[in-house]
Amino acid sequence: MLTDYHCHVLPGIDDGAETPEISEKMLDLMKMQGVGRVILTPHFYPHRESSVEDFLRKRADAFAKISHRTEFEFHLGAEVAIERGFSEISGIERLAIEGANLMLLELPFSGYGRWVIDEIQNLTCDTGIVPMVAHIHRYIGMYSKSQLDEILSSDAVFQVNTEAFASFRERRFVKKLIRSGAKVVFGSDAHNLADRKPNFDLLKRNVKAERIECSNGIM
Ligand SMILES: [Fe+2]
Repeated sequence: MLTDYHCHVLPGIDDGAETPEISEKMLDLMKMQGVGRVILTPHFYPHRESSVEDFLRKRADAFAKISHRTEFEFHLGAEVAIERGFSEISGIERLAIEGANLMLLELPFSGYGRWVIDEIQNLTCDTGIVPMVAHIHRYIGMYSKSQLDEILSSDAVFQVNTEAFASFRERRFVKKLIRSGAKVVFGSDAHNLADRKPNFDLLKRNVKAERIECSNGIM
């Protein structure tokens, strides 16, 4: 089943869908593109949230507004920003994707250091959670080669946005990553109906159906 591993379709919880009406239309688009399973991953920025408990309450309220779309298999999750100390937050393991031992993690866009790997290891060895690194292709040019290699040599699952296939450089990087045998999954990272709308057609034009199918089997 075609899976969207990363999206901001839940209404009114982050910078994604502003209203339930927009969520509905985003889901309509996903359905037309053949998506059957949707992992709901609103942003969780540790420095902005009062607690995991409070975030889960907000997420449940937002989910109640789209849960009638029973043609989809939904799984609740979060896009957890890696900040210093985040692995020690009480209840952080509850942000793993429901029904899987995976957590979508967003690497910092600046200030990368050994602490990032330490935080990931602290999270995974305490909880057994497998990290799924969000939009890995966005860090080309932002991270040095050795920093990127350090992340790529870890045991993580790598999530790729469909938008990567619109860029020659990112497409080349992703294809090489797939050929290397890394665990790669795809997501729309859709936020709206304009510049960041669901676009799985772009993925289907660039990646063989068998490879997409294989990524759907990660969970
Ligand atoms: Fe995202």
